[in-house]
Amino acid sequence: ADALKVGIAGLGTVGASLVRIIQNRANELATTCGRAIEITAVTARDRTRDRGIDISRIQWFDTPEQLAREADIDVFVELVGGAEGAAANSVRAALERGLHVVTANKALLAASGVELAKIAEEKGALLNFEAAVAGGIPVIKALRESLTGNTVSRVYGIMNGTCNYILTRMEKEGLSFADCLKEAQRLGYAEADPAFDIEGNDTAHKLAILTTLAFGTQIAADEIYLEGITNISIEDIRAASDLGYRIKLLGVAQRTESGIEQRVHPTMVPYDSVIAQVDGVTNAVAIESDILGELLMVGPGAGGNATASSVLGDIADIAKSRPGAQRVPVLGTPAAALAPYKRAQ
Ligand code: HSE
Repeated sequence: ADALKVGIAGLGTVGASLVRIIQNRANELATTCGRAIEITAVTARDRTRDRGIDISRIQWFDTPEQLAREADIDVFVELVGGAEGAAANSVRAALERGLHVVTANKALLAASGVELAKIAEEKGALLNFEAAVAGGIPVIKALRESLTGNTVSRVYGIMNGTCNYILTRMEKEGLSFADCLKEAQRLGYAEADPAFDIEGNDTAHKLAILTTLAFGTQIAADEIYLEGITNISIEDIRAASDLGYRIKLLGVAQRTESGIEQRVHPTMVPYDSVIAQVDGVTNAVAIESDILGELLMVGPGAGGNATASSVLGDIADIAKSRPGAQRVPVLGTPAAALAPYKRAQ
């Protein structure tokens, strides 16, 4: 089969990792997928920055929109970020062209996921976003595919690596909030604007996506009760610890008799719970459903390789898929059939 031609918009921490992995593992990927995966187009804000990767033989585009509209590609990979602007415009343009899209952009999906899913489904294109929630943990696949037929009652977890890293190091090493945040930025965990991490918005974006997959309803990110970790002090962490608890930033979505409840806030979790033992940049997502029971997935939640691993898995799924084949609905339920969102009273 012909090589799968991939265009990548955004060469930050995740994009650079992705390019490196695809180049270094070209032979293995070709064998596994039954066809080669070839990066044929890239774009980033800064062309000359040294990223430790060789992009000299890849066609360069000046903007994500231009790449999405003009490049000779099968798959558009969006790693630009942001709910609006270049990321949103380029993803829309790629889907309108009938290209498959892979994105790690939780802010975009939380704002426009249903609309984008509709376009993808009309065009018969795949829109894959495993990397958008909990980095390397395959939680989208779990909800979208593996748990089909289950009635999900609750989804909750630690979904922001930066916050969990900060809370862990404050507790274990007595470091200040500001120093821990700087370190998380240096390690490539934090958002371009880390306010999204520490004020809880990033967790809310991810939770809104999981809620839709779990309950088959419209995305309702603005219905989430939101409180971040900016007010958590070392004294709070110590006081919780004295009582046998650790403080974790949790996202929780549950089905109640009156509707759906979604909330993000620092939570005291008992020391002996599995969630309390999840340290550093690691994320954890628990899904409670009627046929399976409780599923708990724990793994790397942020950073170049963890996120690139999920992006690569999404690209590989496209490489293995057949043109014209029946597609898994983008949000688990066909976008046109999602139920209205009803908030719990
Ligand atoms: N800033 C995010 C985090 C990246 O820290 O979890 C992964 O989505």
